[in-house]
Amino acid sequence: MKEKILVTGGTGYIGSHTVVELINEGFGVVIVDNLYNSEAEVVDRIAQITGVKPQLEVFDLCDREKLNSFFGKYENLSAIIHFAAYKAVGESVKKPLDYYRNNLLSLINLLDLMKQYQIPHFVFSSSCTVYGQPEKLPVTEDAPMQPAVSPYGNTKQICEEIIRDTVVSGVGIKAIALRYFNPIGAHPSALIGELPRGIPENLVPYITQTAYGLRDELKVFGDDYDTPDGSCIRDYLHVVDLAKAHVTAVRRLIEEKNKSGYEVFNLGTGKGVSVFEAINSFERATGVKVKYRVTGRRPGDIVKIWADPSYANKELGWKTMSSLDESMETAWKWEKYIRNKK
Ligand code: UD1
Repeated sequence: MKEKILVTGGTGYIGSHTVVELINEGFGVVIVDNLYNSEAEVVDRIAQITGVKPQLEVFDLCDREKLNSFFGKYENLSAIIHFAAYKAVGESVKKPLDYYRNNLLSLINLLDLMKQYQIPHFVFSSSCTVYGQPEKLPVTEDAPMQPAVSPYGNTKQICEEIIRDTVVSGVGIKAIALRYFNPIGAHPSALIGELPRGIPENLVPYITQTAYGLRDELKVFGDDYDTPDGSCIRDYLHVVDLAKAHVTAVRRLIEEKNKSGYEVFNLGTGKGVSVFEAINSFERATGVKVKYRVTGRRPGDIVKIWADPSYANKELGWKTMSSLDESMETAWKWEKYIRNKK
């Protein structure tokens, strides 16, 4: 029988790409999503890519009663991959209680009911934001967490702690937290990708929207940092590579290779890229110029961070395959696809 995986937030950006990879690898998938930041139509696009339409249940994970009925209906789930969460840093500063309520309550409901329904495996969508500005680069998993700069970042830290404590309490749950660096790009089919609401906060959607003419210019937030070209440095990885790591994490749990019960992995390329290098890569990969202007620093920005992904390379047998240029090319293809559709 096929192993069946619950993917929360499975119609979202990283979730939808992960559903595709799970289906490609022969897993059954059921998605729970409240469609707060995504569209139901995504399951049809997943079907176009894979030939299999995943089941979709639309409700909010904060609604414990609905979640309880869901688990009553879907028996024998092998694992849960939990993506569903609010993720806009700026918004989280304005609406901290919404962020704490949504991101913490959904997790608590899931873990509590996993215990009750004896679902043994959990994969959590975490972020390199938990490291703040690390002292040593590249950053390894044992680097200390720094005080979070935003309520969003704080929810990721608290969620990791809740999961760890739950695993340690011995209720029969094993878990893997995946700390993503900066996911970018879209599926090469251009049928799924990132759909930012309103004005994007993240660099690559801002680049593609500027290139498309939706924004006048990209603002480069500072060129006077202590980095080779003065702009901030990040580790950008292709979302399809990132999605594949979730499949390997689920396999590791199902095959009982997670001995310690709770494990954390960095998911990145291992290479730091500046904002100017990212712009150059986009222009090189697409042949389209991006109008930009250097402005002041963005408050709270990390100066430089990139991953040491060697633990994931070794233990998960996972590494990134796509280049930065390839990622940019798919981001551009997706931007054109969504604009032409509207
Ligand atoms: C942001 C979040 C982080 C989250 C991550 C992934 C902050 C402080 N952190 O990280 O918690 O996990 O996104 O969604 O927001 N940039 C520009 N102009 C722009 C946009 C960005 O120059 O219009 C620069 C930024 O200064 C930064 C880089 O591009 O140096 C990447 O920015 P962004 O995509 O927002 O990601 P992070 O800052 O890494």
